[in-house]
Amino acid sequence: MGFNNWNLTQCGAQFNEAFVEGIADTLVSTGLKDAGYQYVNLDDCWAQSSRDGKGNLVPDKTRFPHGIKAVADYVHAKGLKFGLYTSAGTKTCNKAGFPGALGHEKQDAALWASWGVDYLKYDNCNNQGQDAKKRYTAMRDALAATGRPILYSICEWGQNQPWTWAAPVGNSWRTTGDINDSYAKMLSIYKADIKLGKYAGPGHWNDPDMLEVGNGKMTDTEYRSHFTLWAMMAAPLLIGSDIRKASAATLTILRNADVIALDQDAKGVQGNEISSADGLHVIRKPLADGDTAVALFNETGSTAKISTTLSAIGVSSGTHTLTDLWSKAKSTTSGPISASVPAHGTVVYRVH
Ligand code: GLA
Repeated sequence: MGFNNWNLTQCGAQFNEAFVEGIADTLVSTGLKDAGYQYVNLDDCWAQSSRDGKGNLVPDKTRFPHGIKAVADYVHAKGLKFGLYTSAGTKTCNKAGFPGALGHEKQDAALWASWGVDYLKYDNCNNQGQDAKKRYTAMRDALAATGRPILYSICEWGQNQPWTWAAPVGNSWRTTGDINDSYAKMLSIYKADIKLGKYAGPGHWNDPDMLEVGNGKMTDTEYRSHFTLWAMMAAPLLIGSDIRKASAATLTILRNADVIALDQDAKGVQGNEISSADGLHVIRKPLADGDTAVALFNETGSTAKISTTLSAIGVSSGTHTLTDLWSKAKSTTSGPISASVPAHGTVVYRVH
């Protein structure tokens, strides 16, 4: 859990030292840090377009005049962790073409470790057609050789089915191409990622890309669905909107401790669909304490009743308490579970 600037700034001029430090301040002041968001991650465009005479990466002098280590130190002083980005290719993805780490894995990893990097997002652009498993394994080994624990986030967009080989290589792998701030794109990524649940588990997660919650082009109902579905899929939760200016509704979504608890549950099981017909989805996620989460997601454009049962979600008979994790209302059932769910909405219960 944390923050990454990409969905908000891309490579715009506002992506700079003051912005990143302001985000770190806001994670603390809004309680998002206490809710579990701990990484502050920089995406593409943090570097100069050329390495220095010794072959080292150089921070962009305009965006980061005090260097990257100074920003990492600032973030660490807030009790947060710090992440950085590059590509497993000759250049990163941005058309300006910042240096990638292909062939420079050991040197770059050592530099990042010296700066205090805790997280690496490793992209796939300009890979020169070289084998993905070899490229991503080379960086795994380079990160390990630094001796610093660095969360390793593989970003090859699902092109080489990383779920079939990357569990011993990275801590997470993107399963799809890039998200954007639209219901249609969020929905298509959900439909791809939900199918891959059996490959995920503690230390090796499917990554359906970063959150768009708060960026303004979906409704709050849609953002609640986005957040709930990502939590049911045990996805990384990386905020991608301007939390310095977040609405109360956005903060209420991002700080929902009951939904975050599903995402972060220690059992580490990704939810799966137990039924999905006519755009009405029932998703189940077993939890470490023996409870079960069940989400009722209405993909369609009109309100619909979505129904399931305790036995369908694998819960033994008897009377169980249902807590609606958005409204916080409690009810009991000895069998049926159902709700009237608004268009594009999701109702999620914790069944105890
Ligand atoms: C790729 C990645 C994105 C982002 C950009 C940066 O598109 O998938 O998440 O990192 O590159 O250029």
